[in-house]
Amino acid sequence: DIYRQPLVNVKGVPLLKYIGEMVEPIQSFQAWPDDLLISTYPKSGTTWVAEIMEMIYQDGNLEKCQRAPTYERVPILELKWPGLSTETPAPRLIRTHLQLALLPQSFLDQKVKVIYVARNAKDVAVSYYNFYKMAKGHPEPGTWDNFLEKFMDGQVSFGSWYQHVQKWGELDGPINLLYLFYEDLKENRKREIRKILEFLGRSLSEEMVDHIVQHTSFKEMKKNPMANYTTIPIEIMDQNISPFMRKGVCWPGWVSGEGRVEAAARACPEPLGATCVGGLRPIFPSPGIVGDWKSVFTVAQNEHFDAHYAKKMAGCKLKFRWQ
Ligand code: PPS
Repeated sequence: DIYRQPLVNVKGVPLLKYIGEMVEPIQSFQAWPDDLLISTYPKSGTTWVAEIMEMIYQDGNLEKCQRAPTYERVPILELKWPGLSTETPAPRLIRTHLQLALLPQSFLDQKVKVIYVARNAKDVAVSYYNFYKMAKGHPEPGTWDNFLEKFMDGQVSFGSWYQHVQKWGELDGPINLLYLFYEDLKENRKREIRKILEFLGRSLSEEMVDHIVQHTSFKEMKKNPMANYTTIPIEIMDQNISPFMRKGVCWPGWVSGEGRVEAAARACPEPLGATCVGGLRPIFPSPGIVGDWKSVFTVAQNEHFDAHYAKKMAGCKLKFRWQ
């Protein structure tokens, strides 16, 4: 029974029971040097970057990218099913949400290239709360206020966001790691795809990059059954409660920085009003336009969160997109 089970603690990391049970067996997983690992804290743009990577690896062939659901095309390291094996043909695309401390050593030994994607913590918390409600393998999320406290305390599936974004970021140097931000993808996907290509040492025509940009918009991915998780039975993920492709928004101030909101909105390929916002004050958008965290965070929660964030991230040398 996987429904609404409490989290288990594995080496200090709270995990869903069936994921916790996988941690030990996957430690002997043999990574190959040409593997590509997409690493994220949950709800930070995993599916988005997985689709971009698939499009790159399949030379933009839409039919090939429709051959199976996203989680089969880019398997999840810590899941038994649909599974990752030596049968998976190279070069493999693999995804993980594991904290760095739980990663099988062979990824480091083989110096596997890693694309890390981070998203600002407030949007992650909101997205995660909605995911907990619809994905029944998670414990009951409780009220938003309860959930936010658990999130800040690292007592949610896959543990602390603060630890995740910092520890993985510190890996840059020992191995080849590209650190991306959800907010940058939102602002200019084409630029980010070019960054990925450079990192991979690949090149694609201008038309192909445009094609990938087009296929990986929120609108396209939301209606793509091979990307939107509607292939998962409703008993496990009830998208009537909250769709997997929920809003796909980020706070405009985090896209462009204070005072540069309009420029970001112009650069954003999505239609204005739906997922991007122009001409708004960077702090607190009008509800219904961005629609997201101000309608969820109260002013008190926001202040409490900011103070806690400052403490948790003090001394961190990484430069984050939203700071
Ligand atoms: S998971 O379950 O951890 O793998 O989820 P993950 O894919 O990391 O994150 C899901 C959120 O990413 C949004 N998303 C997108 N945003 C913009 N553009 C595109 N193409 C896109 N694809 C997925 C998705 O809507 C989830 O965010 P929220 O804020 O809940 O909408």
